[in-house]
Amino acid sequence: MTNPSNISFLILAAGKGSRMNSEKPKVLHKVFNTTILNLLIENATEQNNDKISIVISEEGRFIEKTIESNKKFDYIIQKERLGTAHAVKTALTEGNIADDGTLIILYGDSPFISSKTVSKLTKKIEMGNLATVAAFNCEVENQYGRLCVNGDELERIVEYKDANKEEKKIKLCNSGIMALNLKHARRLISKINNNNNNKEYYLTDIIEEVNKINEKASFVEVEYDEVQGINNKIELANASKHYFAVNRKKALDNGVTLIDPDTSFLGHAIEFGKDVVIEPNVTIFAHSKVGDRVTIKSHSYIEEAIIKNDITIGPFARIRPNTEIKNKVKIGNFVEIKNSVINTSSKINHFSYIGDSEIGESVNIGAGTITCNYDGFKKHKTIIKDKVFIGSNSSLVAPLTIGEGSIIGAGSTITSDITSNSVTISRCEQKNIADAREFRKKKNT
Ligand code: UD1
Ligand code: CA
Repeated sequence: MTNPSNISFLILAAGKGSRMNSEKPKVLHKVFNTTILNLLIENATEQNNDKISIVISEEGRFIEKTIESNKKFDYIIQKERLGTAHAVKTALTEGNIADDGTLIILYGDSPFISSKTVSKLTKKIEMGNLATVAAFNCEVENQYGRLCVNGDELERIVEYKDANKEEKKIKLCNSGIMALNLKHARRLISKINNNNNNKEYYLTDIIEEVNKINEKASFVEVEYDEVQGINNKIELANASKHYFAVNRKKALDNGVTLIDPDTSFLGHAIEFGKDVVIEPNVTIFAHSKVGDRVTIKSHSYIEEAIIKNDITIGPFARIRPNTEIKNKVKIGNFVEIKNSVINTSSKINHFSYIGDSEIGESVNIGAGTITCNYDGFKKHKTIIKDKVFIGSNSSLVAPLTIGEGSIIGAGSTITSDITSNSVTISRCEQKNIADAREFRKKKNT
């Protein structure tokens, strides 16, 4: 089946990002817990059959391994970094990009571009423009390329370094994001030269090439927030602020109660149910799911997890990836849970580590209980069946299965499986060895 509007995406990510002062390629830095590149892909592309090509540098090859998506990617290595037009030309000649439809060119370091803007750009191409750019109005001094327009037609883009005094006063700036008609793109891009102050092949020169053959180029206006780029740590910090602000607003729009919104650190694409309350200083990673009537108390940290209905978590709880918390569970303070399922109506109320475990229904895990899932070599599983009671401060040494309805005495170290309905204890017998008054007297002499 073909994609109805026939869009091909091209992400330019061959830049070094030297202003990040880091050994990592720029696009692998993170906004909260998602790399800039993954965030861009999630924001801009919508359909699973979207075709995405990425231009990377030779040193950036390992970027391939960091993409978290089930979409298909095509990588093009740009050996020499000779400018944005050179990057696109390399992709069009060496990559697997279609011969027709719309090419959406994105910058790897501008992750907030929305699929809505992508649709607007695509529409302009489908209406007959050979090129369209996303532009924004900027009142403050800046070094972006400037758009020279005539009504809603775009005549050319002049790079700041090459602009004259009058052109530098233009407020309409180039975000860099561009759409091209693929039937004409290869021919037009091969005409671009590097006769400019930077000696670079500028993608922006394609607008003049479109006008030279009496075809149309245009622009779409977007908010700066959507096209902001990340070139240094200040811009990365600003991007994080923007990201959290957007996600908070989404949560509030969905009816989530944020007791102190400024301290709710929420990732993107979190699903929230009804009557969710989030207390101050809570962090929830992207793609988590939080059901109905859930309260997450202060200082809790929810990594990607599924939390069902009628649940309280925290304060000071940490729920790590691959965890599912079923209905009516209570997770209390200083509880860490990793890669585990906690079934209905169970309680883990104080100071616990539950890892690689399956906890049944109506289980009570006493304070200070630890699953010893790691023996220094491998991780092992703990299975606790329904209605088990684990006494406080128990160590459960995995691999281990505790049968339904069993009771374990406090302070036990359990190392082998327990059958259903057992009462088990594993600790030294208590001795009362003296009268305390006599004992004190003796100590004082
Ligand atoms: C570009 C635009 C400018 C616009 C600005 C917005 C051009 C000529 N200018 O300028 O009008 O206002 O973006 O941020 O396009 N890249 C490659 N290979 C290359 C060169 C660049 O992959 O050979 C990638 C970079 O990694 C980056 C993007 O293209 O993601 C933009 O390149 P950059 O050099 O930062 O362009 P600007 O000079 O900022
Ligand atoms: Ca740039």
